[in-house]
Amino acid sequence: MDQLMIEGPNFLSGRVQVSGSKNAALPILAATLMGQGTQKILNVPNLGDIRTILNLLTHLGASVKKEDSALLVCADSVSEHDVPYELVKTMRASILVLGPLLARFGKAKVSLPGGCAIGERPINLHLMGLQKLGAQIEISEGYIYAQASKLTGTKICFDDITVNGTQNIMMAATLAKGVTLLENAAKEPEVVDLAHFLNKMGANISGAGTDTMIIEGVETLGQATHEIIPDRIEAGTLVLAVAATGGNVRVEHCAPQHLGFVLDKLMACGVHIEQDERSIWVKSNKVLEKINMETKPYPGFPTDLQAQMMAFLTQTQGTSRIVENIFEKRFNHVAELGRMGAQITIDGRCAMVEGGKKLSGAPVMATDLRASASLVIAGLVAHGRTEISRVYHLDRGYEQLEEKLKNLGARIYRVSNRECKG
Ligand code: EPZ
Repeated sequence: MDQLMIEGPNFLSGRVQVSGSKNAALPILAATLMGQGTQKILNVPNLGDIRTILNLLTHLGASVKKEDSALLVCADSVSEHDVPYELVKTMRASILVLGPLLARFGKAKVSLPGGCAIGERPINLHLMGLQKLGAQIEISEGYIYAQASKLTGTKICFDDITVNGTQNIMMAATLAKGVTLLENAAKEPEVVDLAHFLNKMGANISGAGTDTMIIEGVETLGQATHEIIPDRIEAGTLVLAVAATGGNVRVEHCAPQHLGFVLDKLMACGVHIEQDERSIWVKSNKVLEKINMETKPYPGFPTDLQAQMMAFLTQTQGTSRIVENIFEKRFNHVAELGRMGAQITIDGRCAMVEGGKKLSGAPVMATDLRASASLVIAGLVAHGRTEISRVYHLDRGYEQLEEKLKNLGARIYRVSNRECKG
């Protein structure tokens, strides 16, 4: 297993370009199962979870080709409707093919995704929505068996805001008979990007980005060309790395409007931030103040930046409070940050982060995707060498992160070491 080695502290400067959004590309690639003809998808990031879903599409019988910087996906020859545990266990977002398979082919057998390091991750809201659309759902021996001769539009209200649940039901409803009203829908930019793609294929979705969506079912979906939005979590991770280490960096090819709440919080700490339509200029070279924050559904502070924010807050003055409202076990990075000298105490969903701490390099272990990004930021700040093991977690969700940081002056490199322990 690979390790990342970081010699700190670092000062980051220069320009960096953000890749396409992993969490927009995953549902959009799942949606290609519903279109007739070839879908042309641009700005798809080259990272672990994308390779996993492309393997899944190929397993189902779709053809996947690269043409220059575009991905061409054609589902006309899809003949398989069974998504095995071996594929789902590596990426629980595979559940996103459930709605498309059911809508296009009337049946699907998908392994239950199970939980992960950050929480139980139930899918009851996905299944509730599909049942309301008329699907028969059975769960047996770890699999979801779903079938529906024809899905029928209806009113669906989500008890909790669920991003992938909203996306699964949106996709299923596009080919249902009649109109579906989705209430308490997720408003994330990745939901809006999916709606844009589906509408280009011929769907009739309105209200995406608000908590109420109307989806008028259509008979078939055709082909479309679509460019994936920039990854707001990668952009936020890079901005937080600069804020934490001190530096002067222009983050380009991003969508600052998707990070409004995060940038406001950083400016409240004293980080200098300027933005235009496609880039964020971050300058951090003075004493920074603590803040209190809590994670919320969009447009609130994203849970996917909580771990990275925590690493940054170890460098501000005073004690900050972080409340994680979305996932019940998303503090796995705290113990590892503690090994580097951070002073963080946890009480349930609340973490108190002592600021002004000089971090020291140490061997640490990545436990999940965003926790590993947090350890990278801490390693960039820490004095001495940090060795991060199990970086396969990081590789699932970031495209060439260490190259991007190296180009900003970071002393970071990868050791592909078969004998790596941990
Ligand atoms: C998406 O996961 C993202 N993943 C996650 O990013 C992100 O953290 C999460 O949204 C929240 O923004 C992808 O898009 C692939 P949820 P999702 O359903 O959709 C509860 C990353 O790091 N819930 O919005 O699975 C659930 O337990 C990943 O890139 C139910 O109770 O998250 C959680 O408490 C991590 N029943 C809350 O809702 C359900 O049926 C929000 O989860 C579904 C969810």
